[in-house]
Amino acid sequence: MSTSSSERGVSLGMPELPAPDYPDDVRARLERDAREIIARYPDSRSALLPLLHLVQSEEGHVTRTGMRFCADMLDLTTAEVTAVATFYTMYRRRPSGDYQVGVCTNTLCAVMGGDAIFEALQEHLGVGNGETTDDGKVTLEHIECNAACDFAPVVMVNWEFFDNQTVDSAKRLVDDLRGGAQVAPTRGAPLCTFKETARILAGFPDERAGAVEATGSAGPASLVGLRLARGETAPARVVHPREGGPHDEPQDRAVHEPSPAEHLSSHDAPQDTSASDPAHPAGPVAEEGE
Ligand code: FES
Repeated sequence: MSTSSSERGVSLGMPELPAPDYPDDVRARLERDAREIIARYPDSRSALLPLLHLVQSEEGHVTRTGMRFCADMLDLTTAEVTAVATFYTMYRRRPSGDYQVGVCTNTLCAVMGGDAIFEALQEHLGVGNGETTDDGKVTLEHIECNAACDFAPVVMVNWEFFDNQTVDSAKRLVDDLRGGAQVAPTRGAPLCTFKETARILAGFPDERAGAVEATGSAGPASLVGLRLARGETAPARVVHPREGGPHDEPQDRAVHEPSPAEHLSSHDAPQDTSASDPAHPAGPVAEEGE
């Protein structure tokens, strides 16, 4: 069983993080929630990741106050908490928007249009990577592969999937988010704000009607491998029908059986990708500040 540095009588010589206290009522509420989370683990320090989500659900990002709270609750040093909070990209370190719009610019999504989408959204929103629109609604960032390559190019909003995106559908998506329109992911649970998402990730039940039942399935391309493994014959082509705006009309993602004449596909059909759209040439996407 591991012990904390204080239990081991070790002083790491780290100064306390200067941070304001939570208001008393907020602190009392968070302590109640934190104790519930900690009780789920045989070793309290194992609760650090959900506790970071908990404090993120309070302020929208992990503040110094939040990190000190986690350290207090888990008998860790603030240095230990900071090391974890700064390692994982799901923890935000500065104030951000209600909707975190992540454009996958990893290899497959990039060549399928992710680079073009990211570039277009930067221009459309007037923000760069990691920046937030003036109305506080949208934080744009490029993200790594989300294991949804079947549906490339993929955009995620607060970790919900928006599949088979185009420049136009992605622009509509952020416009709807900023305008307060009803927006539904392609699959999975309904969309909620970043703070609400953080609370669910902290381990508290998602009590919205139908949220738990909502689910998605593996994409057709992935399921081809399963079929082959079972000795079945795979379809000659694996396609996704792309109709209208994916975020407006969630599609049935069960295995799609294309007719031989069908060629409409997010994978096979010619598209405006970074490779084929001269207005959005492929190229490295620099990190902010580089
Ligand atoms: S490369 Fe974008 S989801 Fe895998």
